[in-house]
Amino acid sequence: MITKWWQKAVIYQIYPRSFQDSNQDGIGDLPGIIFRLDYLKKLGVDALWLSPVYPSPNRDNGYDISDYQGIAAEYGTMEDMERLIEEARKREIKIIMDLVVNHTSDQHPWFKEAKKSSESPYHDFYIWREEPNELISNFGGSAWTFVPEVGKYYLHLHAKEQPDLNWENPQMRKAIYAMMNYWLAKGIGGFRLDVIDLIGKEPDRLITKNGPKLHDYLQEMHRETFGNYNVVTVGETWGATPEIAQLYSGECREELSMVFQFEHISLDKQTGKRKWDLKELNPQELHQVLSKWQVELQGKGWNSLFWNNHDLPRIISRWGNDDHYRELSGKMLAIYLHFMQGTPYIYQGEEIGMINYPVASIEEVDDIESHQMYASRLKAGYTKEELLASINAKGRDNARHPMLWDDSKQAGFTKGTPWLPVAISSEISVKNALADPNSLFYTYQRLIQLRKELPIIIEGNYRVIPTEESHVLVYERLLPGQRLVVVVNFSNQVGHFSLEHPEKSGVVLIHNYQQEIKEQLAPYEAYAILYTKN
Ligand code: NOJ
Repeated sequence: MITKWWQKAVIYQIYPRSFQDSNQDGIGDLPGIIFRLDYLKKLGVDALWLSPVYPSPNRDNGYDISDYQGIAAEYGTMEDMERLIEEARKREIKIIMDLVVNHTSDQHPWFKEAKKSSESPYHDFYIWREEPNELISNFGGSAWTFVPEVGKYYLHLHAKEQPDLNWENPQMRKAIYAMMNYWLAKGIGGFRLDVIDLIGKEPDRLITKNGPKLHDYLQEMHRETFGNYNVVTVGETWGATPEIAQLYSGECREELSMVFQFEHISLDKQTGKRKWDLKELNPQELHQVLSKWQVELQGKGWNSLFWNNHDLPRIISRWGNDDHYRELSGKMLAIYLHFMQGTPYIYQGEEIGMINYPVASIEEVDDIESHQMYASRLKAGYTKEELLASINAKGRDNARHPMLWDDSKQAGFTKGTPWLPVAISSEISVKNALADPNSLFYTYQRLIQLRKELPIIIEGNYRVIPTEESHVLVYERLLPGQRLVVVVNFSNQVGHFSLEHPEKSGVVLIHNYQQEIKEQLAPYEAYAILYTKN
């Protein structure tokens, strides 16, 4: 049964550092987001997920939190945060906080105390061992770092400045729940839970993802915190399969609202290798994976629908075409995804077709993950050219260059010096997008509006329609008396598809070419038709 507000919602992700600067220090901030709320309302989204805005040494751009209950000065004040929640609420938009509870910053007071002495009450908030084992950090290198004061190693599954919290410790869990309740009491609309599938880890058995106590912790968290509020909770779950997703998000499980899983997004990576090790995307494989999730979660769990986030390259540069077909391929990707079941996420700039930002040297790179990969692979014998090619294809900075608002010097993001260069473009900007009734922005606006109008998009059964050509992807959604068919050409070559039963009563809901629908599909052509039986 579809009864929850977030099952009908569309969520927009903001990377605050790069969204809108209001005080000209080159870093986006909360007043900047408030200034742009009317734009987001025009797009039609229901909630904003903010990447972390808490105080942080920014080793991993805010995903290393040093104070869970504060706001980083560069983003503003707690009053700004409260004003944002209130101003968004007036526009019927909810604010979702990014919650990083797998680890803290090494500058968090808990860790500073923890590493002073094994006797400290905070020592056991983290994971310590006399000897390291072979666990590797997600950013490369050993996951253990030695602290001479206590003569032990602590675990960090990311950078060494991001020590992992010890979820086995009930006092630690209590402190986290108190912090979550502090935010819930402020009226936020929910949490996005960073790498949540890691909290049940058992390092001695080399188990990191999907540890045995993971779901117990989430049920306890639900009971102690957000279970008492009508909010959304979305778990970043790299290790989820559809079966595991049912554990997180099944209605009677009382854990999370939905998963944010990456199986489709990992299809251009060689099996068993890291994200940098590319292979060409096969659209049929993509269709098969997305369809599997559609069918296997129907009625049993809830999924997120996304192409982008702050960790992923821009989708048009990745699986679309950022050369001749930027807008058309962007529209095709949006149409293909937004008629599926789940909660769509739009990452800032996606709605205006922002693309990757290639660099010519490692000195131009900000992101810690790219730097760590570059350093370790250079030692392993890769050439600089190979490594830069990987960074340009997959590096996280691609998504983090400032939002393009207009055609002024720094694209309306700041009047100061931006923390990461602005990818100035004469073509891509919010200003241009709003002025052109045929722009990608209006495709997204229409897709959001259709989701609000047509229950078949929210709850219709999903079925794949087979095609002759591997780049032509087709599916249908079904409700009694209604059939919604989505047809996309995932290529810059022409394709072919003719509807089997072209009922007369079909209404074209959206089409990215201004021409009649024919059997031959133009490059990246995409449309959706709704058939209703009288
Ligand atoms: C996932 C976040 O999305 C990413 O940006 C971050 O680096 C890691 N988790 C560690 O917190």
